[in-house]
Amino acid sequence: MNDSDIPEHFQRQGRMLANRVKKRFKHLRNRFSRQNIEVFRLYDWDIPEIRAVVDWYGGHLVIGEYMRRQSVPEWLPMMGRAVAGALDVPAEKVHLKQRWAGRQDGRRYERLDHTDRKIVLFERDLRFLVNPTDYVDTGLFADHRETRQMVRELAAGKDFLNLYCYTASFSCYAAKGGARSTVSVDRSDSAIQWARENFVLNAMDLTTHRLVQTHAFDFLKKAARERQRFDLAVVDPPSYSTTKTRNVAFDIARDHPRLLKAVVGLLRPGATLFFSTNHQSFEPRMDGLAAADVTEITAGTIPEDYASKRKTIHRCWRIAV
Ligand SMILES: C[S@@+](CC[C@H](N)C(=O)[O-])C[C@H]1O[C@@H](n2cnc3c(N)ncnc32)[C@H](O)[C@@H]1O
Repeated sequence: MNDSDIPEHFQRQGRMLANRVKKRFKHLRNRFSRQNIEVFRLYDWDIPEIRAVVDWYGGHLVIGEYMRRQSVPEWLPMMGRAVAGALDVPAEKVHLKQRWAGRQDGRRYERLDHTDRKIVLFERDLRFLVNPTDYVDTGLFADHRETRQMVRELAAGKDFLNLYCYTASFSCYAAKGGARSTVSVDRSDSAIQWARENFVLNAMDLTTHRLVQTHAFDFLKKAARERQRFDLAVVDPPSYSTTKTRNVAFDIARDHPRLLKAVVGLLRPGATLFFSTNHQSFEPRMDGLAAADVTEITAGTIPEDYASKRKTIHRCWRIAV
């Protein structure tokens, strides 16, 4: 389809999005290149009728559409062409993705393609492998780059636990900050492989940085039995976790008290736990935790490029034991 066949209001939206993204890019690229940060967000549904999210990955663009029933197939490619034109990005570096919300989140983890092509991008002095093509998630959640820095600053000499680690970017920061050991847990085999590649890429010693492929609660049970103990932890679960039969096995709204209780049970006195969720209407129930202090620190963990009026990308708590 030629752009001239596309409804005028889509073309107008394309121009609006292109203008917005161009301005943001100029501002953010200056700021982030000083810090050697190559992954950042350019747009997140800031204009109500333009239901898109646009991320910069060191010369690649990942553009998502927040899907709904009325979505039409030509809209997202149109936005892709508009943004790519504004930032002078060639078509082969533009990656378009449909994003489904809520329980349909399960679709996030489905494969979109099979290129297996990962690129190496910097976040400060660390490098991460990113796959802009094959999944909705690319391997690096940039909204937590400030939280990663907090972990690094606390990590020296500590035993660090990263539960639901995905590609282990938090663990790489902890290792860089001088953690005595790290344990990273995820049930996904491909996430654990990817985490291993990130460790190797950053020249980290795989004998002190352990990767465990298992279900979070199985790990917690075993670690409690073996009296494993940690001084620093990150728990960043999905909102829902399904079994092979697609039953919801874990629901953050329902299950976070027992999850956090089990994690706190593995922590030494004086330990710090960062707990985060992307759930959009999360109501914390942390009163029963055996913790000295529970503080929501979301205002300090959301970076400038994720400060959207429309939604809070994540919420984060610091739990002191
Ligand atoms: C939101 S991501 C975590 C992001 C990660 N903290 C980071 O900073 O990159 C959720 C991860 O939880 C994993 N996961 C889902 N259900 C799980 C379970 N029951 N046990 C362990 N890991 C699980 C997924 O494979 C996915 O990698």
